[in-house]
Amino acid sequence: MTLSYDNHPALRGAMEPARFASEVYDCLVEGTIPAGLNGSFFRVGAEWFYPPKFPDDSPFAADGIASRFRIADGSCDFSARYVETPRYLANKAARRQLFGYYRNPFTDEPEAEGVHGTVANTNIIVFAGKLMALKEDALPYVVDPDTLRTEGTNDFGGDYKAPTFTAHPKVDGQSGEMVTYGYEAEGLASNAIWIYTIAPDGTVTSERKIAAPYLSMVHDIAISQNYILIPVYGMVSSMERLREGKVHWVWDDTVPSYIGVMPRRGDGEVVWIAGPEMAMVHTFSATDEGGVITLHAAVSDSNPFPFFPDVHGKPFNGAKARTTVRKYVIDLSRPQDGWQEEVLFPEYAGALSRIDDRFQGHPFRYGFLSASHPSLAYDAQVMGPRAPSNGICRFDFQTGQVDTMHAGPTVALSEVVFAPRSPDAPEGDGWVLAFATDYADMKSQVIIGDTANLAAGPVARIKLPFRAPGQIHGNWVPQWMMPGEGQA
Ligand SMILES: [Fe+2]
Repeated sequence: MTLSYDNHPALRGAMEPARFASEVYDCLVEGTIPAGLNGSFFRVGAEWFYPPKFPDDSPFAADGIASRFRIADGSCDFSARYVETPRYLANKAARRQLFGYYRNPFTDEPEAEGVHGTVANTNIIVFAGKLMALKEDALPYVVDPDTLRTEGTNDFGGDYKAPTFTAHPKVDGQSGEMVTYGYEAEGLASNAIWIYTIAPDGTVTSERKIAAPYLSMVHDIAISQNYILIPVYGMVSSMERLREGKVHWVWDDTVPSYIGVMPRRGDGEVVWIAGPEMAMVHTFSATDEGGVITLHAAVSDSNPFPFFPDVHGKPFNGAKARTTVRKYVIDLSRPQDGWQEEVLFPEYAGALSRIDDRFQGHPFRYGFLSASHPSLAYDAQVMGPRAPSNGICRFDFQTGQVDTMHAGPTVALSEVVFAPRSPDAPEGDGWVLAFATDYADMKSQVIIGDTANLAAGPVARIKLPFRAPGQIHGNWVPQWMMPGEGQA
């Protein structure tokens, strides 16, 4: 049979799947990789090894491909390999795509019966000595950090019982405890969320089961010192629509949004705070003091994903999809008042919010974001009319100052990650790293900036001789945190 992406115009240019594992020893570097920057930048992205069964399927259903930029003593080696999920292996054996719409098993080919449809493409983390590729519809897949070969799923010794595991677990920056969860935890289209805490050694220490007000994409949460914040919004689904053979998610602007507030410790109930239409897909972090919670997040006014339709047939609204940095204040003594929302930096648009992870679950000052901004020039002849994310930004939530690095007029950035200058460096002091593809030559690079002077531009660009696999999320793992490599 003919294998072709010809019927998939969205899979052209920078979106064309890589379809190969790769290694580059001693990458070419423009500038100088900082001597103190030692560790690995792990990334995972979504690439269709076989074209989707349906041309309008969500890119969220593309195969996970993990990659590593291993940086030591001013040099960098690169490697990439597909995550060998049961779906990826079954497709390879059949030499075609056996799976239908994103997270809809009713649209799969008969040969996919009994094969898990996850693609492990959303995030990749190191926790309790394991590197794990994450996708919110399945358990984590353990990946060997050296070979990037897939070793199997991780249910934390059998004590993590939910069948799903978020792509955005939160690890307390001081205690090392993980707060994590699975949604649709009681089966496809269920509104059950099972919430776990896991000790730094991988031991599950608590399990709590709650019900969301309705089934929603609970992609990310936030933790403060004392609370877990659970955003629920109008990205909905139902068993009915799945049985009708439709893509999993659909936007419904008639349902209220909620932020669930639940004590991190003990067995306190979740309180659902209601508010207007919004999509809080990614958070920065949260703090709480005296029963008042302050949450920072990257939020849009409506559906941010053009590939997920509107349940009422409304056209996609690009203006309302624009994602900005926002602050939410919730007074737990007056939950009926809802939340107060403030758009903090309205000219910056970007969805992939990050912080200095050492401050996760504690008071924090800085946020990081790859963003577009009217002052950041881009070459529309090369990039097209829509402004790309080509600014690496550090927001100071105390002073309102923004430090911005222009990544270049022909590059599109993935998510920015932060690497502290030393284990005990002040918050936000260190380097930023971001994967980018230069549309002028369709080759990829990692851009490194120094937070001491982002405006000065990159201190180094690690150049690859090809366009490397895409990215959804990535993480910087210092050498001292690497399994089997510590104490470097
Ligand atoms: Fe995400």
